[in-house]
Amino acid sequence: MKPVQFQIAAIILLLLSGEAFAQYPDKTQQIINLPNRDTISLNGTWKYIVDPYENGYYNYRYQPIDQQENASQVSEAIFNDYHPTYKTDRVEYDFDQSGELTVPGSWNYQDDKLFYYEGTIWYRKKFDCHLPKSGERMFLYFGAANYETHVYLNGKKLGMHVGGFTPFNFEITSFLKEKDNSLVVKVDNKRKKEGVPTLNTDWFNYGGITRDVALVKVSETFIRNYCIQLKKGSLDQIEGYINLEGKDLSQKITVEIPELKLKKEFTSDENGHATVQFSLTKAILWSPENPKLYEVNIIAGRSKVTDNIGFRSIETKGPDILLNGKPVFLRGISIHEENGIRGDRAWSADDAKMIMGKAKKLNCNFVRLAHYPHNENMIREAERLGLMVWAEIPVYWTIDWENESTYKNAEAQLSDMICRDINRANVIIWSVANETPVSDARTKFLTSLIAKARELDNTRLISAALEKHTITDNPPLFAIEDPFARYVDVLSFNQYLGWYDGLPEKCSRSTWTIKFDKPVIISEFGGGAKYGFHADKDTRWCEEFQEELYKQNLEMLDKIPQLRGMTPWILSDFRSPRRLLPGIQDGWNRKGLFSEKGEKKKAFYILKKYYDQKITH
Ligand code: GCU
Repeated sequence: MKPVQFQIAAIILLLLSGEAFAQYPDKTQQIINLPNRDTISLNGTWKYIVDPYENGYYNYRYQPIDQQENASQVSEAIFNDYHPTYKTDRVEYDFDQSGELTVPGSWNYQDDKLFYYEGTIWYRKKFDCHLPKSGERMFLYFGAANYETHVYLNGKKLGMHVGGFTPFNFEITSFLKEKDNSLVVKVDNKRKKEGVPTLNTDWFNYGGITRDVALVKVSETFIRNYCIQLKKGSLDQIEGYINLEGKDLSQKITVEIPELKLKKEFTSDENGHATVQFSLTKAILWSPENPKLYEVNIIAGRSKVTDNIGFRSIETKGPDILLNGKPVFLRGISIHEENGIRGDRAWSADDAKMIMGKAKKLNCNFVRLAHYPHNENMIREAERLGLMVWAEIPVYWTIDWENESTYKNAEAQLSDMICRDINRANVIIWSVANETPVSDARTKFLTSLIAKARELDNTRLISAALEKHTITDNPPLFAIEDPFARYVDVLSFNQYLGWYDGLPEKCSRSTWTIKFDKPVIISEFGGGAKYGFHADKDTRWCEEFQEELYKQNLEMLDKIPQLRGMTPWILSDFRSPRRLLPGIQDGWNRKGLFSEKGEKKKAFYILKKYYDQKITH
């Protein structure tokens, strides 16, 4: 085939394959409850090759190599000057002679040369594997990889995923070998205007395979995902679903809760979908004071999945948030998914224990996991500790509102977040945005996301960090007039009086007027302080300034009649490429109540005292 014809064929293949638009596993593709599945971890040491010009993915005409007719050999020829017409032995890249990265973990913190690197890195993991027996299947699961990921196994392209914070998986049953499997993964963390998030964020763009990678063994027909939760507004009726995947889709499915001596049978339809409804009497409801979880077994033929599930109801009534029918005040804190001591993304159960332990020290019953879906360990550890969760997708600041592919991306991330965590009792709020500038296109984008969230889960509350509005400067009078406010269940907004807007004393002169009969959560307030820097309370960046800012803000915000919670910004100092003041920030956003090393600042005690008082009242 002449080069010109070849190029035309490649372009046609590209268009036919749909690679031109990002492909996302739809929600039914997700395998959930990984901690309790039959898995083989692929965490550990992987080989890597940096590829800033994406030589391994595009040919010299900048056409994707894996669109070639012989895409099946692409992984061996990933760096050869490979054409379908001949094989070359001129090799300019060699994984075996290349460097190593630890997975999970970003590449940024593992090698100074890669600290600010934004681009493609190719990973390779060699592994042996007992082949699935007949009646068994094998999947390859990624907890997340930031940001665009292409996966190849033994030369076969498995697929791709876009989004840095949601899980994805591919079936590999027919591609596996007993020995020497070659798993090649292209991860590209370049920020893009059409991305979710978009180009500009106030957090570090950690790139790479940042969460667990595992082989998941399942039976021929298996339980992919499910929801076993209380029906909206009920304290004793379960309503949910179970999705099977495989050949025998219509079959009997048993749900057991041994501790309640409960056993119910359902039948899935020809698509493998079963609707689940049953009475849940005598159950202890999940709450921060008693985070009760039950062992739940779901059995479908040879497939059995066990999960630890809590049952609770969450709803609003006027300005009140009702947990299990009783009003609750959300004593919260915002959290980025970062282990400041290691200086990298948090991903493990130990990271989650360390981070959630700090929130408990603050006497929190609530955490805002900003600004993207955190890893599953964070949610499950919070659930065990009795911490309710606000979970959100990175629809952050100036998203490309009029781009259809951007909306599909945001919706896929929302669907995957809800599908993964729908059985976590402590998740009470899904948030679809953070500080997004008001426009018709933005509000249309967000109302579509809300509709999707309610379609997938009509039980949890929906919110977003809305924009505040200044009515007058003198005296300072503020309101919430964001057109999106009418669509959310909980009215949340970020405000930075005392830091970006005036000094802490401005709080005492300011008034908030909120005309909605809805609960109000202050999703962010705060200010920066360098741990150990002490001076008078008017000196910016010292601990005393931050302490005064908290005192003034808490006094002002407590006067809002609909106030039902807050998640001040932020638990710990975190990396941000936008925060470079030498000697003070040095690449860290310093609004933490803890330093990145886990040292408490004086403002910690102000917030803790406020929360202690909230318990006694
Ligand atoms: C914003 C934003 C945060 C950011 C914070 C800050 O409200 O939501 O992501 O880190 O302000 O300026 O520190």
